[in-house]
Amino acid sequence: MPKDKIEDLHRRLDEVKVGGGPERIAKQHEAGKMTARERIEGLLDPGSFVELGTFVEHRCSYFDMDKVKPPGEGVVTGYGKIEGRLVYIFAQDFTVMGGSLGEMHAEKICQVQDLALKSGAPLIGINDSGGARIQEGIDSLNGYGEIFKRNTWASGVIPQISLIMGPCAGGAVYSPALTDFVFMVEGTSQMFITGPQVIKAATGEEITHEELGGSDIHNRESGVAHFKAESEEKCFQLLRELLTYIPSSSRVDPPQGDSEDSADRESQELNEIIPPNPNLGYDVKDVIKTILDHESFFEVHREFAANLVVGFGRLDGRSVGVVANQPKKLAGCLDIDGADKASRFIRFCDAFNIPILTLVDTPGYLPGTRQEHGGIIRHGAKLPYAYSEATVPKVTLILRKAYGGAYLAMCSKAVGADQVFAWPSAEIAVMGPEGAANIIFRKEISQAVDPEDERKGKIDLYKEQFAHPYVAAARGYVDSVIEPKYTRPTVVKAIEALLAKEEQRPCKKHGIIPL
Ligand code: HXC
Repeated sequence: MPKDKIEDLHRRLDEVKVGGGPERIAKQHEAGKMTARERIEGLLDPGSFVELGTFVEHRCSYFDMDKVKPPGEGVVTGYGKIEGRLVYIFAQDFTVMGGSLGEMHAEKICQVQDLALKSGAPLIGINDSGGARIQEGIDSLNGYGEIFKRNTWASGVIPQISLIMGPCAGGAVYSPALTDFVFMVEGTSQMFITGPQVIKAATGEEITHEELGGSDIHNRESGVAHFKAESEEKCFQLLRELLTYIPSSSRVDPPQGDSEDSADRESQELNEIIPPNPNLGYDVKDVIKTILDHESFFEVHREFAANLVVGFGRLDGRSVGVVANQPKKLAGCLDIDGADKASRFIRFCDAFNIPILTLVDTPGYLPGTRQEHGGIIRHGAKLPYAYSEATVPKVTLILRKAYGGAYLAMCSKAVGADQVFAWPSAEIAVMGPEGAANIIFRKEISQAVDPEDERKGKIDLYKEQFAHPYVAAARGYVDSVIEPKYTRPTVVKAIEALLAKEEQRPCKKHGIIPL
């Protein structure tokens, strides 16, 4: 090979690798952000990255664009490994025209989307962009459309993960929104459809970028983001941890490790965890952590709809998805956000062969006009839909309250639980004793000499009849009532016994989940 050809190649590579140049790189660092290449290096196993489309160029000539050659088209794409597992990746380069997306920038992203889907490997997108490259007009919009379409086609086939590490504005937010998990970095990442200036012009409201679409708001209020990290490095650590729970595609099982935690471990503390007063809360995460393999709980959507807890964990080394009411928050009631959060998580677990463990302690759906008028009927219906649709192993444990529609929606036998266990503290009925007594004994109470005393007596009668798990167990809606300390060995065995489970649903193009 002539030496000059090799030198020419290296000159060209150097031109691309320098991105937007030292000044813009310094500005990126000053803003507390890494460059696209530093991010890829920081996330992937050392030396594993293989770049694709290095020399791709745009073909736009509007606004003198024919005189500009943005290195790498403002996005670095390729594949590499995380803990030895193949992943496809793209990282937008904000130092090159603000990471703006034109026709060829989009084509580079589409190429890795296509390869990830064909190869059955997760796709990781690092977003840091001023949005549609304004000079390229409609070609840039079309590029977004091509990406959205591929996100949708890959949904449920390969895990798609978005890291937001800078601005992500306008319609650009829809690619991350179509992926399975959105990570944000505190202080440096923002997502919004219309920015502060447009909002001010349209409504007069003044708001900062961070208040409008920063990591706090999207993790806590909107539920758009699932995770937030203090820094980009911490974000990479979180992502690596997430990958240990999920498979590379729907065609394979999640990774399995050995557990040092005995499958037979008893947990005496669970015998004491339910407070004697049924109106008092407790932290269901203590129950989850005690049941799962030591230190294996990885919570998803931690700050959003905290009345419902979802997350991954391991039972005897195997991945499980956990869905649990949180009695500490809104008494564990189901609401619109909680139903959305849990249904989405259940569907992820089902798509990716992850068994689901559901822990129930809920007095029912959250009452009130805000919920009713906000569409709790439509949103709440997603939960029984997601559970009924799911064919992965489903094990349910009723800890305490399981009333009415919420009992059904939290993976009851009727909506498809394979095995249902209950603690002796379980109360399973159409509604709570107070409400039930007031309705069915209304006449007796109102006509009694001492209505209050009569009411108390009727409440006690109802409690005796239904505020325990044995009526449900007598009908087979509960398979077994267990002493809490034996919960871990019981659910480990139950899930193990279901691993080879096969279940079919009626053949269809797709269902119509109530959105
Ligand atoms: C072309 C862009 C660009 C864009 C930024 N740049 N956004 N070039 N198209 N969309 C360029 C800037 O000209 C600048 O170039 C460099 O990137 C860095 O931008 P700065 O403004 O200097 O950076 P900063 O101060 O950090 O501000 C970042 C920003 C701002 C908040 C993102 O650049 C911004 O508001 N950009 C426009 C955002 C926008 O309206 N995008 C279109 C949204 S509509 P130089 O050469 O000076 O370094 C959209 C529709 C998508 O995206 C629809 C999909 C369906």
